[in-house]
Amino acid sequence: MTSAETHILCRVRFPLLLLLVCSWWLLPQSDARRMLAAQGLPIRAVNLGGWLLTEGWILPSLFDDIPNKDLLDGTQLQFKSVTQNRYLVADQGGGAAILADRVQASGWETFKLWRINETTFNLRVFGNQFVGVNSTGGVVATATTPGPSETFQLVRWDSDKSRVRIRAPNGLFLQAKTMESVTADHNKDTDWGDDDPSVFLTNNVGGLQGEYQICNGYGITKATQVLRNHWSTYINESDFSFIASSGLNAVRIPVGWWIASDPYPPLPFVGGSLQALDNAFSWAEKYKLGVIVDLHAAPGSQNPYEHSATRDGSQEWGTTDANIAQTVQVIDFLAARYASSPSLLAIELLNEPLAPGATLSSLTKYYQDGYNAVRRHTSAAYVIMSNRLSADATELLQFAGGFSGAVLDVHYYNLFSSVFNSLTVEQNIDFVRNNRSSDLAAVTNQNGRPLTFVGEWVAEWDVQGANKTDYQRFAQVQQDVYGRATFGWAYWTLKNVNNHWSMQWMIQNGYISLKT
Ligand SMILES: *[C@@H]1O[C@H](CO)[C@@H](O)[C@H](O)[C@H]1NC(C)=O
Ligand SMILES: *[C@@H]1O[C@H](CO)[C@@H](O)[C@H](O)[C@H]1NC(C)=O
Ligand SMILES: *[C@@H]1O[C@H](CO)[C@@H](O)[C@H](O)[C@H]1NC(C)=O
Ligand SMILES: *[C@@H]1O[C@H](CO)[C@@H](O)[C@H](O)[C@H]1NC(C)=O
Ligand SMILES: *[C@@H]1O[C@H](CO)[C@@H](O)[C@H](O)[C@H]1NC(C)=O
Repeated sequence: MTSAETHILCRVRFPLLLLLVCSWWLLPQSDARRMLAAQGLPIRAVNLGGWLLTEGWILPSLFDDIPNKDLLDGTQLQFKSVTQNRYLVADQGGGAAILADRVQASGWETFKLWRINETTFNLRVFGNQFVGVNSTGGVVATATTPGPSETFQLVRWDSDKSRVRIRAPNGLFLQAKTMESVTADHNKDTDWGDDDPSVFLTNNVGGLQGEYQICNGYGITKATQVLRNHWSTYINESDFSFIASSGLNAVRIPVGWWIASDPYPPLPFVGGSLQALDNAFSWAEKYKLGVIVDLHAAPGSQNPYEHSATRDGSQEWGTTDANIAQTVQVIDFLAARYASSPSLLAIELLNEPLAPGATLSSLTKYYQDGYNAVRRHTSAAYVIMSNRLSADATELLQFAGGFSGAVLDVHYYNLFSSVFNSLTVEQNIDFVRNNRSSDLAAVTNQNGRPLTFVGEWVAEWDVQGANKTDYQRFAQVQQDVYGRATFGWAYWTLKNVNNHWSMQWMIQNGYISLKT
């Protein structure tokens, strides 16, 4: 028996409790611990990404029927005046006037959309203020919250959708009369020519396709239809059967914070995902799979990525005690609801928090309170604490080691960094075999406190033109190395339009084999 397994059986701090829990384990009981003691840690799991929490790249067709689907919340636009041949800029990055004098566009020249409906938007500038029109018709970026004076209509030219006019709340169009003067006072029709100071060329330089975008893009009524259909068809019982028969023994299910206020979550989110999660538990019980409920999107958003359900890339999670308390409430709700399920393997308190929004002190306060919330309902479920992205991977090691049944989650992708741009097949494989294995060893204490979990990895890389054997070797070396994590690993993800990101496809096509 490894120390990790001993740990599963006797995971308590005090001798009396230890005796109690160990003898309790010998009795017939139905908890995830018994199931996993039989199957054994480390687990081999798959993420159910793109199911209860939208990420557009996993299944882009979900967004197909949104009108102006290239103008969703968080879309970043730059506007070039055709008469001045200059970009609009929030002078000083915000807090002052809008000018039209920039030759090149970067942060101060980029405006983030808040969508009111398919044609109506607020425009947020670099410094987080909103563009508005003042009492003398000047265009400024001074409001910290958007109101009627900050609400604009984007009117696109039918023949070239990148040509727009911006209609101000007073009904008139913005115009760049000079480089120093942008005003809301153009009242003429247009033929969209380069001589019209109310015409702007837009560059769309980035967008998000998360839960906020799909819900607010469709609007509550249509979003409810689209998402409920998706939740009941994308993953069903057959998938749990497939997962179990493939040699996997658990699933990690990303969820958003609004699931705790189902069926009537705050707008723009829509209700119904809780029913799907309930279904997942009953299928998991039937096929003897463990479930990790993973809070992937926290209130305020813990990172700027679409999978945190951010509206526009801002990350406000952890900035107030009330926000942390609200997040603990979500964990409390999930733990209470599923504590009695034999398939509740773990609750992951937060996925991929990132500085500067998530400070180390706000995170450890939250992890302490979130851990206690889980323990109020179950002593059996593991509690997973995710490392901060881009931080020292050992910063939580001692902290997490202080909690019985805590697991530290690290994510390993040979992607998303220039380090991997030019690596060959062999260099990628060596990187996993050498560098990742020492990274993992650095956070893996042999006494199992905390346990370690590679909660996300994928057999995809920046290599172009690799063949099937290359992919098989890459997948295998990762299984070998991440198999040393004391809690286990989870592939990202079960289904994906990009084949290598779909564990289902990888298994069905012989790229990944789990049976031993
Ligand atoms: C969008 O919202 C604006 C402002 O509330 C309203 O005037 C307009 O009719 C709406 N357009 C659509 C297509 O719903
Ligand atoms: C409105 O904004 C313009 C442009 O910044 C400025 O020149 C003007 O003084 C402002 N008017 C008022 C009343 O603040
Ligand atoms: C699950 O969905 C697939 C299609 O994705 C379908 O073929 C299968 O019959 C469904 N299984 C169940 C049990 O509903
Ligand atoms: C991997 O580790 C080796 C040995 O420590 C080091 O020389 C190399 O730079 C690392 N590779 C990358 C891509 O960081
Ligand atoms: C796949 O590519 C590798 C080089 O990366 C090569 O050694 C191997 O022979 C190729 N295998 C097949 C089946 O083409």
